[in-house]
Amino acid sequence: MRTPNKRFLGGKAGVINCDLGMSKLFDIELERLTGRPSYSGAVRGAAGGQGGTFFLETFGCQMNDHDSEKVAGVLLARGYRQVETPEAASLILYNTCSIREKAAQKVFSRLGEYREKQSEGKIIGVLGCVAQQEGEDIFKRAPWVSLVCGSASYSKLPEMISQLEAGNPRVIGLDTDTDETFETPVTRRDNPWRAYLTIIEGCDKACSYCVVPFTRGPERSRASDSILREVRELGELGYSEVQLLGQTVNSYADPTSRKMRFSELLLAVADVQGIRRVRFTTSHPSDFTLDIVEAIERQPKICDHVHLPVQSGSTRVLRAMQRTYSREEYLEKIAMMRGAKRPVAITTDIIVGFPGETESDFDETISLLQEVQYTGLFAFKYSPRPNTPSLSMKDAIPEEEKGRRLAVVQEKQREIQAAGNAELAGKTFEVLVSGKSRRENQWTGYTTSHRMINFASQESELLGTYVQVRITGAGPNSLVGEHAA
Ligand code: 5AD
Ligand code: SF4
Repeated sequence: MRTPNKRFLGGKAGVINCDLGMSKLFDIELERLTGRPSYSGAVRGAAGGQGGTFFLETFGCQMNDHDSEKVAGVLLARGYRQVETPEAASLILYNTCSIREKAAQKVFSRLGEYREKQSEGKIIGVLGCVAQQEGEDIFKRAPWVSLVCGSASYSKLPEMISQLEAGNPRVIGLDTDTDETFETPVTRRDNPWRAYLTIIEGCDKACSYCVVPFTRGPERSRASDSILREVRELGELGYSEVQLLGQTVNSYADPTSRKMRFSELLLAVADVQGIRRVRFTTSHPSDFTLDIVEAIERQPKICDHVHLPVQSGSTRVLRAMQRTYSREEYLEKIAMMRGAKRPVAITTDIIVGFPGETESDFDETISLLQEVQYTGLFAFKYSPRPNTPSLSMKDAIPEEEKGRRLAVVQEKQREIQAAGNAELAGKTFEVLVSGKSRRENQWTGYTTSHRMINFASQESELLGTYVQVRITGAGPNSLVGEHAA
């Protein structure tokens, strides 16, 4: 179970981000979602793995969550069974995150806990960004690990599992030069209504603080016909919401001769039978173009929520971060969205305490929050990461000062959200019901703008349905309402 991220002020999904847990709001406990596998094309007969069991723990962003769904699919198709504890498993897999130092540190402490498991004959594997970053060093630091597979090498994972099954004591996959994306015949999806779909992997931007281009490799877009085939299957299986994923999802470049633009892909996905909502995340400001806004205007199934990380409100800091836009250029993108016929909820990511960030740079971030009026944000203290250009930058900001700036950002955003949410009282929204409280007649769900609503209804079963909810109250982090129809 992941620990909730107290710094998040906006609701979980809809944003690619790290260390996110389910935010627990009020006393609503989401019911455990029971997923089902979705099949794509022919499934190979169950190979090795008969009788084998696996435990898979995931840290990090939605890309990691979805990669784990695919890894689980690969194993299920080979005849493995998924279990809930490491004790019950013959194969223990840990899908890791390295975006900030704290996340990466967690990996080694968790691996320490698994140490004695190997002597019980269990196979232990490390997947994801830490695997890519640390590579063979993981075998040195934790010799009880048998499998190391980086997130850029997942297309090789089935082959690597075959080698383990054949008795190979150590297998490693660290390629980043593959232009294949990770497509699996079976994906074991955790949520029965919302399906994630990676449409672009890796990242070709070079933000000076970020490990992603190293851990996830260069940008690779998936073929539009393959994406649309999977969406049609999802529609037939009863999924009504799809979320298109990518580190820079709107940089999508269709590798087929069709050359669909990202906005055309959004419209095509929305046209698929059974699909009622299309989300996408994360967008990069430099590639955010008017045709995306026009697609949102034209097609109500495309959700009116855009996650557009700004990172800093100061052009000077943005330059040092190599973010490829200035404050003014970013604000032009915001103006473009604010000009849309349908209101669009905008959320963002902020990094405080980047090397050399002065008090006046920081003030510009606060004034940007005031100007944009985001509906949610994730704020992070800058964390120096291996191999990144910003690692060697001078004028590091002391941890204490980073903490102070983080608190100022959060307080500012809390005020903005409290005021913004209060204005919604009395309005009615369509909600996809995704959770049921232990408290009687209490439900929870999300609007298309990705606002979370806790609401009362006398209906006996609402999970997975779309209902109208009237807002009766609001806090900074969520809304309270009642079933209206
Ligand atoms: N330090 C702090 N935050 C970071 N992020 C990415 N790299 C770092 C880092 N080195 C944040 C950015 C990004 C989000 C996913 O994580 O805000 O948008
Ligand atoms: Fe990292 Fe920048 Fe790529 Fe986002 S756009 S994944 S912050 S390098």
